[in-house]
Amino acid sequence: MTEIATRGVVFRGPGQAARIEALVLADPGRSEVLVRMAAAGVCHSDLHVVDGEWDRPAGVVLGHEGAGWVERIGEDVRGLEAGDLVVLAWTAPCGRCAPCERGEPWLCATPDGAGHRLSPELQRLHRPTGEPIGAYSGIGTFGEHQVVARSAAVKVDPRTPPEVAALIGCAVTTGIGAVRNTADVKAGESVTVIGVGGVGLSAIMGAAAAGAHPITAIDRSPAKLELAVRAGAHRTLLAEEAMQAAGSDQAFECIGLSQTAELAIDLVRPGGTVTLVGMTPQGHRASFDVYRLVEDGKRIIGSNYGSAVPARDFPRIATEYVEGRLPLDLLITERIGLEQLDDAFAAMRRGDGARRVIVY
Ligand SMILES: NC(=O)c1ccc[n+]([C@@H]2O[C@H](COP(=O)([O-])OP(=O)(O)OC[C@H]3O[C@@H](n4cnc5c(N)ncnc54)[C@H](O)[C@@H]3O)[C@@H](O)[C@H]2O)c1
Ligand SMILES: [Zn+2]
Ligand SMILES: [Zn+2]
Repeated sequence: MTEIATRGVVFRGPGQAARIEALVLADPGRSEVLVRMAAAGVCHSDLHVVDGEWDRPAGVVLGHEGAGWVERIGEDVRGLEAGDLVVLAWTAPCGRCAPCERGEPWLCATPDGAGHRLSPELQRLHRPTGEPIGAYSGIGTFGEHQVVARSAAVKVDPRTPPEVAALIGCAVTTGIGAVRNTADVKAGESVTVIGVGGVGLSAIMGAAAAGAHPITAIDRSPAKLELAVRAGAHRTLLAEEAMQAAGSDQAFECIGLSQTAELAIDLVRPGGTVTLVGMTPQGHRASFDVYRLVEDGKRIIGSNYGSAVPARDFPRIATEYVEGRLPLDLLITERIGLEQLDDAFAAMRRGDGARRVIVY
């Protein structure tokens, strides 16, 4: 055993300020990888947890969007070596369950590193007092080091800046994947994206790369709409002007509110497709006019993790960035330290900025 001393932001329950703690990390198991975190993005899905909108266990290092360098590998790990730049996947597909066998690894029923690594076999972190600590979604990217499952660590082009690589781990893959994989947007289709934070801006980039036209961005924040234009939107609308986008071939809800999910249904033309990407607080419901939906032949799809296959999609997206085909830099509003995480959450509640990225 060669335990290392590290630090991470531990979730202590909703409403309680997350706190940076000194922690101890054990060696990687046979098919695990020890990663030194390079950068981690602050995603609204962390904020849902902090604000008590999603029920998650206390005693886990938060963060599920990150990239780092492989520091050590378990004895059964193939295809990775120390120094590789890896993007971490918050669903690490097991490759054996029914969804994995169907080719839908984003729905993996038994992901490697499941249960936030709180079970005794998977728990690798503890407080100096010995108390076990987990890792959110198996990767806990708001920690300076983590042990993750082999399938959670996906090697990408080392020319990818770590801050950009981090965002590929959630927002970018979620947004681009929703457009490409879930909805299969075609060149010439009109696309409306509701909510242009990290996920929505990525959806716009994916739509632009697919040749969608026109692409309409909707947000309540004018500053976000300016970013949307840089991401590839042809037209922008403030929330109260949303109905001007009615008649779209495709609409993407990227906020996580019932009312904007309902709005998305109203904005697509008969035969159009609504893809729901934003996630509400648990238990929220939305409603729609069943008669109209059926008569208009509309489709509503949920998109989990951009229906992405991490081992295929992460390297592909990183390469597109390196070749200058995806303007992912515009997602980074500010580089911060772990100490500024609470400020980043406060800014996100106000809708201020795209992504804040912790740089280690
Ligand atoms: N499906 C998935 O796999 C998946 C993955 C990652 C994130 N998410 C979810 O996607 C959502 C978006 O995440 P994000 O990190 O981009 O969030 P974010 O907070 O960065 O962006 C949300 C955007 O919505 C805008 N907004 C908020 N309320 C609005 C309203 N009433 N009308 C118009 N605009 C409004 C904000 O100004 C902001 O630009 C969250 O619910 C998150 O949990 C889902
Ligand atoms: Zn996320
Ligand atoms: Zn599986």
